[in-house]
Amino acid sequence: MTPTWVQLVYLACAVCFILALKGLSGPKTARTGNLIGAAGAVVAVAVPFFYKPNGVDHLHHVPLILGAIVIGAAGGVIGARRVQMTQMPQMVALFNGVGGGAAALVALLELREIIEAGGDPGWFVLVATAFTIFVGSVSFAGSVVTFAKLQELMTSAPVVFPGLALAFAVALLGGVGLSTQLVVDPTLWVGIVLGIVGLVFGLLLVLPVGGADVPIVISLLNAFTGLTVAAGGYVLGNVVLLVAGTLVGASGTFLTLLMARAMGRSVTNILFGALKGGSTLGGGVASDRPVKSAGPEDVAIMLAYADRVIIVPGYGLAVAQAQHSLRELVDLLGERGIEVDYAIHPVAGRMPGHMNVLLAEAQVPYEQLKEMDEINGEFKDADVVLVVGANDVVNPAAKTTPGAPIYGMPILNADEARQVVFMKRSMRPGFAGIENELLFEENTTLLFGDAKDSMGKLVNAVKAL
Ligand code: TAP
Repeated sequence: MTPTWVQLVYLACAVCFILALKGLSGPKTARTGNLIGAAGAVVAVAVPFFYKPNGVDHLHHVPLILGAIVIGAAGGVIGARRVQMTQMPQMVALFNGVGGGAAALVALLELREIIEAGGDPGWFVLVATAFTIFVGSVSFAGSVVTFAKLQELMTSAPVVFPGLALAFAVALLGGVGLSTQLVVDPTLWVGIVLGIVGLVFGLLLVLPVGGADVPIVISLLNAFTGLTVAAGGYVLGNVVLLVAGTLVGASGTFLTLLMARAMGRSVTNILFGALKGGSTLGGGVASDRPVKSAGPEDVAIMLAYADRVIIVPGYGLAVAQAQHSLRELVDLLGERGIEVDYAIHPVAGRMPGHMNVLLAEAQVPYEQLKEMDEINGEFKDADVVLVVGANDVVNPAAKTTPGAPIYGMPILNADEARQVVFMKRSMRPGFAGIENELLFEENTTLLFGDAKDSMGKLVNAVKAL
């Protein structure tokens, strides 16, 4: 029997997790939300060291547990401090995968205890155990592949081979069959084989996904891990795991659906598009069609004599780390009485909220960040739209070209502005791998070069005016 004070502390931890999610829903409160969630997690991990259920010592190998906590915490802190902003998705993938793998291992150990204890644990406990072992293994193996793809340890293109669909179906049916066997007649071996089949299924699930879609799959696997942890919490009779897992499962599912909708794709198309031969994302070659280009001095004049400027930040801004000089430019324009806003597309960059985080790092006031729906009606009144390292999020092909990989994705209406300036290094396409007609329009100018380098020159040129 768990003491009442422990139940109350767990309840407080669960409230912390809910408050954390609430805080994370807005940039102003995200940091506090994160800290509240972390505090709840620390307390939840510490509590088992301070009580004995029914007077029985329930923790064995305490020095080993403490050693594992120290090693895990050190790895987490060092990894989180060192990671580049652009590498955040693969870091999330790794942490998530480790969580799923840990839940699967815990469920295997619990299965051993159930078998050794004898008696009837109840079919629902066995269903939850089988679910945790299988889905936790899927999440682990899938996350390792997403990490390898984003870290460029392997090709980021979809990996497909003859018989993949069949292998996929066999692994899925194998998982269902072994889970049923585990519920009917629980043995440790069935549990272990179920875990191995889960690993294979995880590999087969993620290998065919193209690099562009990997962040969405990370979010989906995150939801899997959440559900695994929730099921593990049920098996262990641990309320805080149950609540935390359910919250992660629900929020991961919502995030996956929101990202897929913002990209104008369905989750099934993302997961199985390559199996049907439909995914073309991630390819693309540089165009050799003529474009109009200009130097920083000319662009500085366009900007400095405008009344209304809209900035469209994208992935290239993050790559170049040009956010600080961009803010300096916007401040300079503001001092000249020019109205400037940032237009934030929901999938600009490579992870949800990427641009918000990047611009917050440069202390850009939140009021200047405008969501797509809020600003899309204002492009027609803009004198200049400055597109900094973005491409797909302003590509009109999303509206005009059925069959384009981004067709149906809502875009920022940069094409409606009087002048459009693209800052990019070359004529290479964006993430979707397709040409952007806006680059070739009469009123479009390209400022070639690394965004940080060009932005520095642009700032100096505006100052000199
Ligand atoms: P992209 O379409 O990928 O375009 C990025 C642009 O930045 C490219 O044109 C590239 O051209 C330029 N660039 C790269 N490095 C640069 C540098 N150092 N200096 C200057 N320019 C640089 O980016 P986007 O418009 O932000 O669109 C995001 C894409 O990612 C969408 O297709 C979206 O669906 C996908 N995606 C997003 C997410 C989330 S949640 N954000 C998740 C998965 C996929 P050059 O190479 O010529 O410089």
